[in-house]
Amino acid sequence: MKNALIAATVACAAMLSAIITVRAQTAPAAPMPTVSMDGTHSDALYRTFGEKPGLVKLMDDFMTRLVADPVTGPFFGPANQTRIKAELVDQFCQLMGGPCTYTGVDMKTIHASLGINKADFNALVEELQHAMDDQGIPFRDQNKLLALLAPMHRVIITQ
Ligand code: HEM
Repeated sequence: MKNALIAATVACAAMLSAIITVRAQTAPAAPMPTVSMDGTHSDALYRTFGEKPGLVKLMDDFMTRLVADPVTGPFFGPANQTRIKAELVDQFCQLMGGPCTYTGVDMKTIHASLGINKADFNALVEELQHAMDDQGIPFRDQNKLLALLAPMHRVIITQ
């Protein structure tokens, strides 16, 4: 009698486990995550920004604003704006997981002699926010880009 009870319990457990396995296999696939939770590659942000054409447009607008801004204008007016824009497109594309490789100068070296302070850095970030607003980039995606750029202040601000 005891043996029969044990056998029934084992059979029951086996059936339950089989049902759970089948349910797991036939469950609908979860939607693809837009942001990788496990550090795997995602180009979702790059796509949100309109890929390469979107970034080129964004940088054109951004540079126009940087030159017109009384704080950042003195830095960018005399600089090679065409080169900086092209380098920024590649840099942002790579940061956002797009199919680009930044081949420009590293952030510490290129800004080392410019004497950039916190107010200069903040003014640049503000112009980038205006440019992103104009491109209709959603606020949460703007913040994702800003979060990728923020750590750079440590090597760019030297004053
Ligand atoms: C997160 C913030 C910043 C990023 C990602 C960034 C990125 C870049 C990149 C990619 C370049 C071109 C590098 C190359 O030519 O190989 C560059 C150059 C330059 N940046 Fe920045 N930059 C930042 C902040 C600033 C700030 C705050 C200023 C001044 C207000 C500034 C002024 C300049 C100037 C004047 C150049 C040209 C330097 C030269 O050609 O000698 N940058 N930056």
